[in-house]
Amino acid sequence: MHVVITGASRGVGAALKATYEAAGHTVTGTSRSGAGGLIPVEMTDPDSIRGLSAAIGDAPVDLLICNAGLYLDKGETSLDTGYPAAMWTEQLAVNVTAPFLCVQALLPNLRAAGGKVAILSSQMGSSTLAKGNALIYRASKAAALNLGLNLATALKGDGIAVGIYHPGWVQTDMGGGSASITPQESATGLAARFAALGPDTTGVFETWDGRAHAI
Ligand SMILES: NC(=O)c1ccc[n+]([C@@H]2O[C@H](COP(=O)([O-])OP(=O)(O)OC[C@H]3O[C@@H](n4cnc5c(N)ncnc54)[C@H](OP(=O)(O)O)[C@@H]3O)[C@@H](O)[C@H]2O)c1
Repeated sequence: MHVVITGASRGVGAALKATYEAAGHTVTGTSRSGAGGLIPVEMTDPDSIRGLSAAIGDAPVDLLICNAGLYLDKGETSLDTGYPAAMWTEQLAVNVTAPFLCVQALLPNLRAAGGKVAILSSQMGSSTLAKGNALIYRASKAAALNLGLNLATALKGDGIAVGIYHPGWVQTDMGGGSASITPQESATGLAARFAALGPDTTGVFETWDGRAHAI
């Protein structure tokens, strides 16, 4: 299986890369710098995302994992002074526009394999959990969830299943040291969910440990 993972340099993405490689699969990973054999892709730059497509060429892609994400407004609560426009622009670009552009760029490769797409959203993107903080991150992950649901419908005719996932609260740079699970626990659970994804389950929004999450 050929797996493409965005944001494979650290955190959940790096653990997913290690998990698939240990199982004998071929992994193409991205990061901003491209260090360590990854493809350099800056997710705010559409030209850079097209470079990912050029690097992969016409190789079939069995699974595209849109994992790269940004959480700049962590701890932000101030409606009066917080949430500057530039922060909205950057975070929406990485968390929403980039997953769409990655799917678009790799559509021929996904079609060639009858592949699947996994989008890393978050429970914070659920409209049932509108807690009134981190407004940009929440809006971006709600949009990523909505994007995944629409792609599931739009790609049904191509036989490409799309799932949307909450990876848990994970001990990464983003999740912090007091988060509840390790990147490896998250990756192992997510890989099982991705394996279960198919035409009959396309459009799922699930947690890393297999529970359906409210949209
Ligand atoms: N950790 C959690 O508790 C948690 C909870 C819910 C959802 N999530 C979601 O799960 C996914 C993985 O989270 P994580 O905790 O593993 O995050 P992380 O440790 O902060 O890693 C983020 C990854 O995204 C890449 N990235 C960020 N901005 C980028 C940009 N502008 N261009 C290209 N790549 C960029 C980073 O690459 P560089 O190394 O090059 O910067 C890195 O590989 C994210 O989508 C996140 O929103 C995480």
